[in-house]
Amino acid sequence: MYRRRPMRNAKPALGLLLRYGGAPLVVTLAALVQWALLGTRTPFILLVPAILAVAWYGGLGPGLLATAVGALEAASLFFDPRYSIRVDDPIELFSLVVFGSLGTAISMLCDRLQRSEQARRQTEEQALSESRERLRAVVETAVDAIITIDQRGLIASVNPAAERMFGYSAAEMIGQNVKMLMPSRHREEHDGYLARYLQTREKHIIGIGREVQGRRKDGSFFPVDLSVSEFHDRTQRLFSGVLRDLTARKALEREVLEVASQEQLRIGQELHDSAGQELAALGLLAEGLVEALGESSPSEVVLATKIAEGLKRVLGQVRALSRGLVPVEVDAAGLMAALAELASQTSELHGVTCTFDCKEQVFVEHNQTATHLYRIAKEAVTNALKHSRAKNITISLEGDGRSVALRVRDDGVGIAREPSENKGMGLKIMRYRANLINAGLNVGPAEPVGTLVTCTLNKGADHAQKQDQGK
Ligand SMILES: Nc1ncnc2c1ncn2[C@@H]1O[C@H](COP(=O)(O)OP(=O)(O)OP(=O)(O)O)[C@@H](O)[C@H]1O
Ligand SMILES: [Mg+2]
Repeated sequence: MYRRRPMRNAKPALGLLLRYGGAPLVVTLAALVQWALLGTRTPFILLVPAILAVAWYGGLGPGLLATAVGALEAASLFFDPRYSIRVDDPIELFSLVVFGSLGTAISMLCDRLQRSEQARRQTEEQALSESRERLRAVVETAVDAIITIDQRGLIASVNPAAERMFGYSAAEMIGQNVKMLMPSRHREEHDGYLARYLQTREKHIIGIGREVQGRRKDGSFFPVDLSVSEFHDRTQRLFSGVLRDLTARKALEREVLEVASQEQLRIGQELHDSAGQELAALGLLAEGLVEALGESSPSEVVLATKIAEGLKRVLGQVRALSRGLVPVEVDAAGLMAALAELASQTSELHGVTCTFDCKEQVFVEHNQTATHLYRIAKEAVTNALKHSRAKNITISLEGDGRSVALRVRDDGVGIAREPSENKGMGLKIMRYRANLINAGLNVGPAEPVGTLVTCTLNKGADHAQKQDQGK
C-alpha cells in the first residue's frame, strides 16, 4: 500500500482544508515579508519559492491557488495604483503574466513529479507484497518443516509442515522453547549450544546441517535432517531451521541393504549347495579312481591324485566363498559361532594371535542384526591386520538380557582420534551398519596401546528393528 506524504496523509477533508487553506496563507506571508524587507523592488523574488513549496506539498490545485493569490497580492502591494488590483503599466502587467505562467508551470511540474513518484512507490510496494506473498506460499506449502527461533530458543514461527511433522498445532509451539521438539537427552545441551554460539560465533551446526532426533507430541522419536541459518529481522537476531523427516529414507536404506544381504545369502547358499556339492562328489570320485588304479598304473595314479587334490582345493575355496557370503548361521547362537570362526581363521591365515572371548552365551535373535555385527567385527579385524601391525587381536562378545557389546581390540600402533583425510570406506560402513541397527559405535585408542572398536547394541533397539522390518 502506498504511503502518502504527511500533508496528504491526514484524513481527506482535513487534508483538503490544510492544502487549500495553507496555500494563500503561505503566499501571503511571503508577500508581506517581501514587502516589509525589500519594498517594491524585485516583487516576485519570495513569491516564486512560496508557490514551489505549496505546489510540492499540496499538488496542482493549491499551487494554482497560490499563484492566483500571489498575482493579486503583487498587483495590489507592489504595482501602481497601490492597494488595488488594477495594473496600468504594460511592463508590470507583462511581468504579472510571466509570474502567473511560471506559477502554473511550477504547479504542473510538481504535480507530475509527485504522480510519477507515487506510481514508482506503488509498483515497488506491489512487487514487495507479491514477493512476500510468494515467499509465504513457498513456506506454507513446503514439504520440509521450517521453524524460526529467537536468541533464547523460543519458537517465533512454524509452517504447516512443522505442525504435521511434530503433531503440535502452531499455537502450541509458538512462544515455547524449541527444546520441546527434542529428545530429553539433547534438551539441556541446546541452551548451551545457543549460548556458546552467541558468545564465540563458532559455527557447529549453522550453515552445516546434521542428522538429529526429533520428538513428536506423542513422545515418539524420529530421525531428521536439520539445517540451520541465521538472519536478522528489523528488531532481533533469529535462527531458522529446515527439517526433513528421514524416517522413510532410513527405512528404504535399510530395505535396500536387507535386499542386498538377502541376495548375498541366496548366492552363498546356492554356491554351497550346487557347485559345492558337485565338487565334493567329484572329489570322492577322484579318490575312488586313485584307489581303483592302485599300483597297476603308477603314472595315472599320480595324475588322478593331482585331480583329487585340485578338486579338494577348489572345494575349499568355494566353501570359503560361500561362508563369506553367509557369515552368520540363521540361529540365535550364530553370531558366537561366526566370530569364533573369524578368530581362528585370522590366526591361521595371518600369523597373529586372534582370540574370541565370550564368557557367557550371547544370543542375537535377529539374523540381519547378527550379520551387521559380524561385518563390523570383520572390518575391525581387517583394519587391525592392515594398519596396526598388531601381534594380538581380541574379539569379545558380552551381553546381558538388555544389551550386547561387541569389542575388537588390537595391540598395534593405535589409531588417531580422527584419522585425517580418510579415503577408506571401512569406518564409514561400520558406522552406517551400527546406525541401521540403532547401535552405538566407538573407534578409538585402547589402553595401554592399540585400538579398540566397541559396538553397543540395545536389545530393545534390535527388537524394534525387527518389528520395523516385520511391517
Ligand atoms: N586398528 C587400527 N589401527 C591403526 N589404524 C587404524 C585402525 N583401524 C583404522 N585405522 C586407520 O583409520 C583409517 C580408516 O580406516 P577405514 O577402514 O575407514 O579405511 P581403510 O581401511 O584405509 O580402507 P577400506 O576399509 O575402505 O579398505 C585407516 O586408513 C587407518 O589409518
Ligand atoms: Mg578398513
